[in-house]
Amino acid sequence: MSPAELQSKTAHPVLAIENLVTEIRSVRGLIRPVDGVSMSFPAGKIVGVVGESGSGKSMTAFSIMQLFPTSAARVAGGRVLLGETDLIGRSPEQMRAIRGSRIGMIFQDPTSFLNPVLTIGRQIEQQLEAHRWTGGPPAGDRGQSYANRVSELLTSVGLPRDVSTRYPHQLSGGQCQRVGIASALACDPDLIIADEPTTALDVTIQAQILRLMMRLQRERAVALMLITHDLGVVAEVCDYVYVMYAGRIVEEGDVRSLFAAPQHPYTRALMSGVLSLTGTGNIGFAVPGSVPDLAAPPSGCRFHPRCPHAMPRCSQEAPPLFDRPSGRSACWLHDEATP
Ligand SMILES: Nc1ncnc2c1ncn2[C@@H]1O[C@H](COP(=O)(O)OP(=O)(O)OP(=O)(O)O)[C@@H](O)[C@H]1O
Ligand code: SF4
Ligand SMILES: [Mg+2]
Repeated sequence: MSPAELQSKTAHPVLAIENLVTEIRSVRGLIRPVDGVSMSFPAGKIVGVVGESGSGKSMTAFSIMQLFPTSAARVAGGRVLLGETDLIGRSPEQMRAIRGSRIGMIFQDPTSFLNPVLTIGRQIEQQLEAHRWTGGPPAGDRGQSYANRVSELLTSVGLPRDVSTRYPHQLSGGQCQRVGIASALACDPDLIIADEPTTALDVTIQAQILRLMMRLQRERAVALMLITHDLGVVAEVCDYVYVMYAGRIVEEGDVRSLFAAPQHPYTRALMSGVLSLTGTGNIGFAVPGSVPDLAAPPSGCRFHPRCPHAMPRCSQEAPPLFDRPSGRSACWLHDEATP
């Protein structure tokens, strides 16, 4: 892709979610794992989404895809804009066509999406067929064109071409994840959603896979949503980051500025956890207490039971996102009117 083409592709968000609300019916009542979340994914940029376990990262991704792990979940409000098109309310057939062609997905467990009884090549070909991939040189013989595309994809993710004749069980975890990346890229999507794509892999392989994803994402100017538990990874690879807490965004911003001066007490607590670690391997979260029960979330600012700066107002009113030099932060400390 030429620098001019790259420039024009990176000018607009390829996908934006606006005030998204997702509900799950449970025996304990209705819960909202995604509660008024807005995010933007520009082409050519890597956008990180971080937050403790249960904060709603995966549910946000599932909401974009409208593909939930439970039939009790549904999008209850907001918009998912792919270009000018709102994906909310699309039929299952339309969403199937969009997933895999306009939006690619890389999963945490690289073996979960592979069919054990089909060769790797056949699985990627099926995906090209399903989405009527018509890229590449014009060819009378589509079958040959698909085979060439499979070879090209496998080579681009650093796998030998003959992997196409192998079965999933003949590959290592890292190789399977490379196939996952090839598969996500197969139809030249505009956005790739990667939900903890390296967590299941050996530490030595994690860095290789991340580097590969970064290279391919930049070369193709595709937008990447990277869900991760690892703030070190965010600092290293992301352009922009959203910090989620109990179904809401508490802070967002340009990675460099946000890491230089985190604004929200929750983000600051996460960062101080990073500073106390050795800097190797996966970084855990070090905020005392735990993410609240979403069936009965705390009133006002959901972080108030754990926040060292909580004021009376914090338990009464939910703070909006205030503009900050590094981005936006949802904390009453930024409101000059707060007593
Ligand atoms: N299959 C499910 N059935 C019912 N509720 C669910 C289900 N999956 C998630 N939830 C609810 O949605 C909330 C958000 O879950 P989600 O999987 O999005 O968290 P996450 O931030 O991705 O966490 P992790 O870091 O552990 O992957 C959970 O706290 C839980 O209340
Ligand atoms: S709004 Fe209040 S409780 Fe919430 S993070 Fe800010 S100071 Fe803490
Ligand atoms: Mg998750």
